[in-house]
Amino acid sequence: MINFGIIGTNWITQQYIDAAHATGEWKLTAVYSRNLEKAYSFGEKNGATKFYDQIEDLINDKNVDAVYIASPNSLHFAQAKQVIEADKVAVVEKPMVANPTEWEQLDEALEKHPQALLFEAARHIHEDNFRAIRNQVGQMKLIQGATLTYAKYSSRYDSYLEGHEPNIFSLNFAGGALQDLGVYLAYDAVCWFGMPEEVAYFAQKIRTGVDGKGIAILRYPEFDVTLNIGKNINSELSSEIYGVKDSIVMDNAAELNRVEYIDEEGNRRLISDDPESNPMIAEARDFARVIQDPDNHINRKDYQNWLDLSRNVNKLLYNLRQNGKIYFTNEKEED
Ligand SMILES: NC(=O)c1ccc[n+]([C@@H]2O[C@H](COP(=O)([O-])OP(=O)(O)OC[C@H]3O[C@@H](n4cnc5c(N)ncnc54)[C@H](OP(=O)(O)O)[C@@H]3O)[C@@H](O)[C@H]2O)c1
Repeated sequence: MINFGIIGTNWITQQYIDAAHATGEWKLTAVYSRNLEKAYSFGEKNGATKFYDQIEDLINDKNVDAVYIASPNSLHFAQAKQVIEADKVAVVEKPMVANPTEWEQLDEALEKHPQALLFEAARHIHEDNFRAIRNQVGQMKLIQGATLTYAKYSSRYDSYLEGHEPNIFSLNFAGGALQDLGVYLAYDAVCWFGMPEEVAYFAQKIRTGVDGKGIAILRYPEFDVTLNIGKNINSELSSEIYGVKDSIVMDNAAELNRVEYIDEEGNRRLISDDPESNPMIAEARDFARVIQDPDNHINRKDYQNWLDLSRNVNKLLYNLRQNGKIYFTNEKEED
């Protein structure tokens, strides 16, 4: 059993706790919140027995093997580093960190603390339907491009429109559409097609300086991939990967509920399964497998692949952000 603590008490943490408990491999033991009463009320209903308002206390608790970090994006780096330096497991919500300099520092910390493990909770790459697409891409004769969309109106955009600056729409917290939703599409592109040679990001910035929506173009040697991202619009557009006459059509490039392969004759074949009711179960199961048997060669290989992937996705997001001239607070040009 993996005893875990949490940082962040929003709905996404609840979803991860539910997923983790559903696997039967994890047990929530401790909760950190800036507010002790909140730690207690959130934690007690989920079976936790320790409640903290100091992160160090949570991390140093001997009944905490792993920490799930679901704080605002800009805090991920320092918190993950602290967990690694305590020789524990850090499960960090996407996006892992804000830029490659931070990623390099996490790598250095991992090198110094070989007992520690680091995971980015990029949920959809762990799902069967994601793998089904990758397999289908591998079987197609030629790829000629893709158009991937993930655009969901954020409940926090109402607050932005009222004149506030919610974390997710703030440069201070490394927010914006690319970081928040584009990360899923960046994972799609890197996993299915590899790293692009050249990128451009046409960001539609909002008052706070982050991108509310935008179009990214990833140039590969033989084709382009277009990413359509938004947090201030809703889109029901399907996403597609183009072969020659064949294609893969998915209802949503980040949620992957229904995916079809359409062959050269126009025959449609469903390649997806019904997704699990909680989309975080697959990652919670995968992480548990590696945490419980890190020396198993398949687990070690998967773990290294996830780290490499996360590093590349971070690099891609950073390159897109630079191209879109979006700079987070206190981020030096060379970061
Ligand atoms: N995988 C997914 O499907 C998914 C979905 C949604 C979000 N996420 C990720 O989860 C993370 C959290 O997102 P969110 O929307 O929940 O963020 P959020 O509401 O802005 O903050 C998350 C938590 O951090 C704490 N917090 C809030 N403001 C803070 C501040 N100024 N300083 C320090 N702590 C603060 C709060 O916990 P306390 O009040 O208890 O301290 C809050 O519950 C993000 O990285 C996001 O990308 C992932």
